[in-house]
Amino acid sequence: MDRLPVAAPDLRGNEERYVVDAIRSSWISSTGPYVDRFEREFAAFSGARAAVSVANGTVALHLALLALAAGPGDEVIVPSLTYVATANAVRYVGAEPVFVDVDPATWCIDPAAVENALTPRTKGIIAVHLYGHPADMDAINRLATKHGLWVVEDAAEAHGAQYRGRRAGSLGTIGTFSFYGNKIVTSGEGGAVTVDDPELERRIRLFRGQGMDPQRRYFFPVIGYNYRLTNVACALLCAQLERWMELAGRRAAVFEAYERALSQVAGIGFQPRADWAEPARWLFCITVDEAGFGMSRDELAGRLDADNIETRPFFHPLHRLPPYEHRIGSNRPLPVTDHLALAGLNLPTSSLMTDEDVARVVTAIKNARR
Ligand SMILES: Cc1ncc(COP(=O)(O)O)c(C=O)c1O
Repeated sequence: MDRLPVAAPDLRGNEERYVVDAIRSSWISSTGPYVDRFEREFAAFSGARAAVSVANGTVALHLALLALAAGPGDEVIVPSLTYVATANAVRYVGAEPVFVDVDPATWCIDPAAVENALTPRTKGIIAVHLYGHPADMDAINRLATKHGLWVVEDAAEAHGAQYRGRRAGSLGTIGTFSFYGNKIVTSGEGGAVTVDDPELERRIRLFRGQGMDPQRRYFFPVIGYNYRLTNVACALLCAQLERWMELAGRRAAVFEAYERALSQVAGIGFQPRADWAEPARWLFCITVDEAGFGMSRDELAGRLDADNIETRPFFHPLHRLPPYEHRIGSNRPLPVTDHLALAGLNLPTSSLMTDEDVARVVTAIKNARR
């Protein structure tokens, strides 16, 4: 049987037509009508005043931290259970990531752990909406207000997720997104920064465009970066946003089918869902309890691989990676992160999957126990 990938882009709408249009127009660099349209539409989508298109989700984080003037001597509190880019961006600006545990009720940064990690050097918090589930933003924002901190939402995996009816990307000081090929909305590589504050937007655009003064061509008041996204990539994104309801709807159906079919399987657990959350359906998550299921997460992944089904283990705890194992917070016990990192597995999830594809994965999981 064909290999079932863990993620696959769904480009069956106007994607090809808009890309061809961008090429024929000769607007293939980082200015053009699709850039303007995407930035306008993505701001409306995420509920922020402005959206800035950028080259990927990693530089979106870097630009957020540059705009917030994070730098050497500053501490930024981050969850240990996230993609490595969340912490790397903190190091890019010379600041110190401080690792804290995640909350078992959300798998996102634990507000109580944040409070315990505060020091006079703390400047901000990066709340990651992990695997599409929003972090508890009211609790995080309350702490931030009390202690004069900024909050970056890393919404790379959480397109369209809602917290108490408000969209991810409009809940903190700055929001960041990734449009990598495995994301719900994709341009292959791509990203966005969402922001309400006009001064922060100005700084994000300044650093994105090599630091060039918009009023004075070829004058550079700061050291900037080339982190722009092309009109061709934005053409893809415009076509993807047109299809949001279709893309999100099909993914929700895949999630429901998995949940229904796996809910009776002993030893298999699901991502929790807070009652205030409307999560994005990114990659379907299970946890494998070795005692209950009869084999470890890695053994199950091996069995599925032998059946030509690709899966993905959860992120390795960042506080245990070589660049970070000796940094602040790395010697604290982070039991929820450690447990999930060992037990969690992402199953194939895309809007291209048929009911038969989901059934194939479910059958392979059930058969693996025999
Ligand atoms: C939580 C998180 N943050 C940041 C990124 C970085 O995005 P990109 O791969 O587009 O650089 C990703 C992943 O792709 C992610 O999952």
